[in-house]
Amino acid sequence: MPEDAFRFPNDFLWGSATAAHQVEGNNTGNNWYAWENTEGKIINGQKSGLACDWWGGRWKEDMDRAAAGGQNTHRLSVEWSRVQPACDRWDEDALDYYRQIVRGMVERGLKPMVTLHHFSDPLWLMAQGGWESADTPQVFVAFVRKVVEALKDYVSLWVTTNEPNGYVANGYIFGVFPPGKHDLTAAFKVMTNLVRGHAAAYEAIHLIQKEARVGVAHSYRPFRVARKWLPLDWWAHSFANWNYNLAFARSLTSGKVEFLYQTESVPQARHTQDFVGINYYSVDEVMFSFKPAQLFLDRRFPRGSELSETGFVANVPVGLYDSIKWARWFRLPIVITENGIEGAGDELRQRYIVEHLHQTWRAVKQGWPIEGFYYWTLVDNFEWERGWTQCFGLWGLNTETQERIWRPSVDLYTAICKDNGLTHETVEKFAPELVQKLYHR
Ligand code: FCB
Repeated sequence: MPEDAFRFPNDFLWGSATAAHQVEGNNTGNNWYAWENTEGKIINGQKSGLACDWWGGRWKEDMDRAAAGGQNTHRLSVEWSRVQPACDRWDEDALDYYRQIVRGMVERGLKPMVTLHHFSDPLWLMAQGGWESADTPQVFVAFVRKVVEALKDYVSLWVTTNEPNGYVANGYIFGVFPPGKHDLTAAFKVMTNLVRGHAAAYEAIHLIQKEARVGVAHSYRPFRVARKWLPLDWWAHSFANWNYNLAFARSLTSGKVEFLYQTESVPQARHTQDFVGINYYSVDEVMFSFKPAQLFLDRRFPRGSELSETGFVANVPVGLYDSIKWARWFRLPIVITENGIEGAGDELRQRYIVEHLHQTWRAVKQGWPIEGFYYWTLVDNFEWERGWTQCFGLWGLNTETQERIWRPSVDLYTAICKDNGLTHETVEKFAPELVQKLYHR
């Protein structure tokens, strides 16, 4: 008998995720602002500008939307360059504003999850070497202490770092994020210092707040071998998998950073996660290529998979199940800290959400400890070097007027959050083409 509903545990966290630079607007003190103002770095020369105008107060209406949509949590990040506008100066007003924001979330029934580092860095930090500098982990921890002291009455769920692996790969190997380097020596230093920064932040947060739960939002991409008959593709696969998926994550159990064929001991990083955060979007098939600038790697999406509007995400739902399976290795609670798809047209998004939550439910049903799911994202926002060209929101955004544009996925996600799962009725209403697949295997 097919089950009527795919239900989740009672206290399951249902939310959406955002990052400061992508939603706040007028963030002029960080390296992304400088990057946006450098020719050729962002698609079509686009700028974050007002973004979703959260700093101007529109976080309130967006949090109203999240709460009305049945969500009970929200993941946001704090912009370091606002809180610490110069290396020797704190901005108490900015801290106070963040306190208002997280209080406003709690008042709306949304449990805040706060990310302390989500891609952007203060310009003054970059001028002293950014994460290449051995001093940066301690400089970061001073910022972390300041934020935790300020927000601890409202926040106990913390993510130290968002996608450290993506930050290193994009900023220091492939050069598409600031500082735009192609430098493996720098990449190794940055990776190691991010591990140190995370470990020190983990300790500092727990010293201030006993009940804190601290993790990392790992970008996990289940890789497959593109051409199984070609040994070089097997090499490419294991190289990509180790260096992208495993190097940072494993250092948190082994106390060793093993990255790009170099090793460094960071013993203090052992056992510094209370939960495992996973950001999952797609699966990649990895292959060898004769392109040294790409570390001899190339990738493609599995043949025949449906692609998002700009071709950035492939709809491979089982990849989320595989990512959760991987995360179990740590024997810790698991949180899906990001999952989503882009497109102003909404049809594929509805199918994507339904199928990815069905895969999450499969994992829940095996008794695996999954505590929450954060859809990326609530309202279309500034997608880094891809500017405004990708619409990941449940809600659309008119950047001229700041008007939020309803999409059917708003109602889909609301139904899921309110029902604490996927009912037959919801699937039938929003993704009827999946009824057969999900219920009558
Ligand atoms: C993730 C980032 C997030 C957003 C999504 C689409 O890699 O963490 O900020 O850009 O991709």
